[in-house]
Amino acid sequence: MLWSSLLLFSLFFFSYGHLVDKYQEDISSTQTRLQQNLGGGAAAGTLHLSSVASDDYTVLRHSRFPNHRIRVRKTAFCDQTVNVYTGYLDVDAGAKHLFFYFFESRRDPDKDDVMMWINGGPGCSSAMGLLMELGPCSIDMTKSSPNGTVWNPHSWNQEANIFFLDQPVGVGFSYADYGETIETTEDAAKNVQAFISIFFETFSQFTGRRLHLAGESYGGRYLPVFASEIHDQNQIAVSEGRPVLNLKSVLIGNGITDISTLYLGRYEVECGRASLDVPFQSISACVRMKMSLPRCQERLYKGCIDRFDAIDCRAAVDFCDNELSTSMWSTGRNVYDISKPCEGNLCYKENDAIAQYLDLPEIRKLLGVEIPGNFSACSDVVGGNFNSHLDKWGVHTQDYVANLLDRGVRILIYAGTYDWQCNWIANKLWVDKLSWSQSAVYQQESWREWMVNGRVAGEVKQTDLLTFVTIREAGHMVPHDKPAEAWAMVSRWLTGAMM
Ligand SMILES: *[C@@H]1O[C@H](CO)[C@@H](O)[C@H](O)[C@H]1NC(C)=O
Ligand SMILES: *[C@@H]1O[C@H](CO)[C@@H](O)[C@H](O)[C@H]1NC(C)=O
Repeated sequence: MLWSSLLLFSLFFFSYGHLVDKYQEDISSTQTRLQQNLGGGAAAGTLHLSSVASDDYTVLRHSRFPNHRIRVRKTAFCDQTVNVYTGYLDVDAGAKHLFFYFFESRRDPDKDDVMMWINGGPGCSSAMGLLMELGPCSIDMTKSSPNGTVWNPHSWNQEANIFFLDQPVGVGFSYADYGETIETTEDAAKNVQAFISIFFETFSQFTGRRLHLAGESYGGRYLPVFASEIHDQNQIAVSEGRPVLNLKSVLIGNGITDISTLYLGRYEVECGRASLDVPFQSISACVRMKMSLPRCQERLYKGCIDRFDAIDCRAAVDFCDNELSTSMWSTGRNVYDISKPCEGNLCYKENDAIAQYLDLPEIRKLLGVEIPGNFSACSDVVGGNFNSHLDKWGVHTQDYVANLLDRGVRILIYAGTYDWQCNWIANKLWVDKLSWSQSAVYQQESWREWMVNGRVAGEVKQTDLLTFVTIREAGHMVPHDKPAEAWAMVSRWLTGAMM
């Protein structure tokens, strides 16, 4: 006991001395740079992003976020046809650092909408989304390119400026100096809101620009909370006469939002005909699962949903996972795409290739990355911390969605039909029963097929505010499996066209 406190104390002392030195050094270099960049005192909101240098970070501060600053630099990463920037949001007087990539739109960067993409986990890096799904370049799996990546013609920056953010701290290239952590989605939301506000208020070209939040998987939990934080902070900004973020929509791909339908959906994917014409799971496993389902549901409602109790909820989740998930994992199929075998880290060989690529010294240099260790696609530590709070189970995230809809924020829920993990049936079930002011309008709308290049891409139910889209034969990572379809969907969504 005594031994460990002594050790703790000396660790703390060492860290603190280091913190003070580092911070003072930062402040003086920040002031010089800021003066250079702002011409000795120009107001925030008058800077154009293209004035940012490529040799070193430009540091941006904002009077309303005294504990935050943004470091940004121009770089020649991934897309040679547009301006590309990377950098960090430094939070809490510089103790936490959130890494981002920013790609201008390939069409009209000064007019096109701004989108922020966030991967799930919790704990997974948005570099996965960037390099294997919707970014301007994709990891080269065939060793055919001289620079490790190949051009993505279906990139979502074709018609939008797009950020990829590694959040919370501990994810991807984001880090904390002294072991600080973020362990709930509601806490993470504050950093994301501050990040976007500082960026939009500092660079004049973003003022009033339409903003969309997009992501997948655990994004189904993150994004409704992040969007709500933006909306609530906007209300405060209005009352204080400050500019607001023009948040237009949220896009969620194969998300986890309302936990009450998750296991029902998984059963339908494995044992029903929701994904394949002939169910792939063994009959004996299906019978056992069907018998367990009502009990799993009852325990979830009792321990997590109707009244949250950490111990009861944990017991419910353990029961449901034991009875309803183990047989899927033992099939050896990819839980994110049941049509494929599970191969590679998190069932995708791309994840290993991405980690190798992002660990190359020349790529680290290009990105201005500052973590000492190796890149990992998903952080077990961050995942474990969120899990310790039962972050996925304890909050009715669907109510954030309902509240956003009632305030005019458009919501797109899309899902590839081959995903088991956050499957389309689970999503359809919760969206169908979502309680909001225009539920009836959504429920009465009919399903129809939607087309890309003359072929059926999936089914859609579309209303002014809420739209549900399926992408046939795509897994959890829709833009990876069906890039043209995913891009067509996003392009139509941004303009408000019919799918
Ligand atoms: C990487 O190489 C490919 C050719 O294989 C090229 O199309 C692309 O522009 C290059 N990317 C960068 C960032 O240099
Ligand atoms: C990083 O990865 C390399 C190559 O895979 C390995 O040799 C090294 O031990 C790793 N470093 C750390 C800190 O894990």
